[in-house]
Amino acid sequence: MTLVNQISKVVKIYLTKHQEKMLDGEKGDAIAKLMQLIVKIGEVNKAEKLIPIKSAQIAGVSYFTVGDSIFSFFDLLLKDEVKVSVPSWLNPAGMDRNKWKAMKIDEKFAKKQFEIIQTYEKMGIETTLSCTPYLIGHQPSYGEHLAWSESSAVIMANGFFGARTNREGAPSSLAAAITGLTAYYGLHKKENRLPDVLIDVEAQIIHPSDFSALGYWFGEKFHGLIPFFSNIKNVTLDKTKMMASAMASVGSVAHFHIQNVTPDAKTINQKDVEEHIIFTENEKQEIYELYDSTEGEVDLVTVGCPHTSLSELVLIESYLKNQSLKEDVEFWVFSSNKVIQSKDASNTIENLESRGIKIFADTCMVVSPVVRNNFSNIMTNSAKAAFYLSRDEHIKVKLLQLEKIMERVIK
Ligand code: F3S
Repeated sequence: MTLVNQISKVVKIYLTKHQEKMLDGEKGDAIAKLMQLIVKIGEVNKAEKLIPIKSAQIAGVSYFTVGDSIFSFFDLLLKDEVKVSVPSWLNPAGMDRNKWKAMKIDEKFAKKQFEIIQTYEKMGIETTLSCTPYLIGHQPSYGEHLAWSESSAVIMANGFFGARTNREGAPSSLAAAITGLTAYYGLHKKENRLPDVLIDVEAQIIHPSDFSALGYWFGEKFHGLIPFFSNIKNVTLDKTKMMASAMASVGSVAHFHIQNVTPDAKTINQKDVEEHIIFTENEKQEIYELYDSTEGEVDLVTVGCPHTSLSELVLIESYLKNQSLKEDVEFWVFSSNKVIQSKDASNTIENLESRGIKIFADTCMVVSPVVRNNFSNIMTNSAKAAFYLSRDEHIKVKLLQLEKIMERVIK
């Protein structure tokens, strides 16, 4: 009896005839192994069945984070020449494909990174290399089931767009992309999407970094729970992604509601939410104070976690007010290739670059090795970036509003 058969005998999950054949190896070894993974995850989480997905967003791209172990996983898949069966996109890599030399990435790293990207491409995955697929034409629709893996994209898909996805790991999102299936549990089910905590936002939440601080505060305090935010004004997609990414990174939060904004919020009776809590100005300030450890002049300013939209690039431009950066300031912005190369962005990009700002695509300050290896005194407007960068002992971080950052760095 083969391993596949042994596993199929203990499966308690309901599988269609076609799914059973996939699991039993009739569609090849690679598909069988991927089905084993999906079924195993389903069993652990007590899923009763598998469901089809509309799209997949796949992490596990940066050579800095995946290392050489990714290649043995690829070998298994490439033997059977498997391809994705639903629209699928990639998370950021460890470098900008065009400007890797300017980023001071070494040749060995670049070679491995290109190999990883090309392998995913061979499987039919669009090489978007971005954590904001919803900014570049891949907005999920309400109620759609997905298998997304980047934590900031997952929480936006669930909370802002009302689609349904668990936070997939890199292998399970790839397995879902290829088989078109995921296990039906967690946030795919309506009953698991209700809020646990109502947050009355009393603090002034105006700037994107304020949203980021609110998300950080919630994630740290209520790990894994679902918030319902009331009394937040002037919510935009850009500000929401700052808040959502912070909650997801610090507290593994994968869904949220905002009163009068997010799709499910209207269906929720606030009185049904068990725990109520107030987010005050003091609590907001505490998050800014938590990330206030830089000493003297910073050696890097970095923006674009999550990847910037065109409006955020325009906002940076407006704060520059036709001035240039002080001579010794390194200012790195991360965005997606699609945003940077869009016709609408060309004047803004040219203007920003002519004033000393460096704009990189395909990667970010966290998943590329270059920021950690070359800088130690960093200013950012993103609580998620602050959280990850400061995990390196030698890095000091300051979290600040973008407008104030710009005031400090222009001549
Ligand atoms: Fe995106 Fe990198 Fe931040 S993947 S959410 S820019 S850590």
